[in-house]
Amino acid sequence: MPNPSTSPTLGVGMVGYAFMGAAHSQGWRSVGRAFDLPLSPVMAAVCGRDRAKATAAADKLGWAATETDWRALIARDDVQLVDICSPGDSHAEIAIAALEAGKHVLCEKPLANTVAEAEAMVAAAEAARERGQLAMVGFNYRRVPALALARKLVADGRIGALRHVRAVYLQDWGADPELKLVWRLRKELAGSGALGDLGAHVVDLTQHLTGELITGVSAHTETFVKERELPDGSGFGQVTVDDAALFSGRLTSGALASFEVSRFATGRKNALRVELNGSRGSLAFDLERLNELEFYDNDQPASEGGFRRILVTEPDHPFLEGWWPPGHGLGYEHTFAHQARDLVQAIADGTQPRPSFADGLQVQRVLAAIEESAEKNAVHTPVPAAE
Ligand SMILES: NC(=O)c1ccc[n+]([C@@H]2O[C@H](COP(=O)([O-])OP(=O)(O)OC[C@H]3O[C@@H](n4cnc5c(N)ncnc54)[C@H](O)[C@@H]3O)[C@@H](O)[C@H]2O)c1
Repeated sequence: MPNPSTSPTLGVGMVGYAFMGAAHSQGWRSVGRAFDLPLSPVMAAVCGRDRAKATAAADKLGWAATETDWRALIARDDVQLVDICSPGDSHAEIAIAALEAGKHVLCEKPLANTVAEAEAMVAAAEAARERGQLAMVGFNYRRVPALALARKLVADGRIGALRHVRAVYLQDWGADPELKLVWRLRKELAGSGALGDLGAHVVDLTQHLTGELITGVSAHTETFVKERELPDGSGFGQVTVDDAALFSGRLTSGALASFEVSRFATGRKNALRVELNGSRGSLAFDLERLNELEFYDNDQPASEGGFRRILVTEPDHPFLEGWWPPGHGLGYEHTFAHQARDLVQAIADGTQPRPSFADGLQVQRVLAAIEESAEKNAVHTPVPAAE
């Protein structure tokens, strides 16, 4: 087993230290201890705009140094990988600068706020790859073991020909009437609302689990509360993003998919649910029971039929080799260690980690088609194919 203290290192510099910053830090702190890695990640520096807050975050989260300008972070000799955990308006500029400076990049989802930005990021990633630098998007739910198992069962043909995908991602923090006009409610910072925040995940998961692309969509979006108090209490401002989105889509094979994402689903805190129905069976997943995958095997006689619960904690289940004995359960934070593991391994191997920036661009094209359809009162809108 490689000794983390003697294997070659990979210096990580992270931008943003709040929600995703804390989650990614957890991943970077644990990954080298849980998994045998060819490179040892070193948490070299974290960047935040406020020196005192960034220093406190560095101490709490385990970063060795602090920067207040992401350009200085990128320029550091001890940083080989830039991990972007800031809002969407900053992704393109930071990622492109980091790639051009010869750094690997991990960028949180959604990849960008617009298709044009995402295209520029893909161009930068492709040029960087020629020089040996790699880029990946942080769709962490791909690395929930039960969902990784679901993808394998689909690829192995266990549910046969795909007919339906049914995906919802529901939260309720938007229902708080006191909620201020935070960055997530402003288009110029977040790109879109529930759509880019939650919809990006279910779009990516659908394409990832099925191995198919969403080729066209019909959509409704709504902003239920149109004005909120400004964070500094100086007045009120317009909410410029959607609060919820409802959309349906067609997949490459002709399968049909339906989606619902909302910040107003009262009582639903982080309810990500996906069901796939095929000619030979079905799979169902609920993030509130993330160690479990439900499987209906239509090859069984009807007298013995029914969904059965697979407890995805066996050593030969995806990602489980690094963790606990069967039945001891993983949580949300492990997905960030899994993401870090696969990225570090890809960097060591010189192979393209997935989801790539091109995968992120594909999701962005679906999101743009959803917005276009919603503007036209749900007219079916094709998703442009990748060149
Ligand atoms: N993978 C997931 O499940 C998931 C979950 C939540 C958020 N996200 C994504 O992660 C990103 C960040 O979201 P969050 O929830 O962590 O937001 P957050 O508001 O909790 O944190 C944002 C951080 O970025 C910092 N920041 C903003 N602009 C900056 C700049 N120019 N330079 C340096 N730091 C800057 C802020 O100070 C803060 O530390 C977004 O793209 C979001 O969509 C992903």
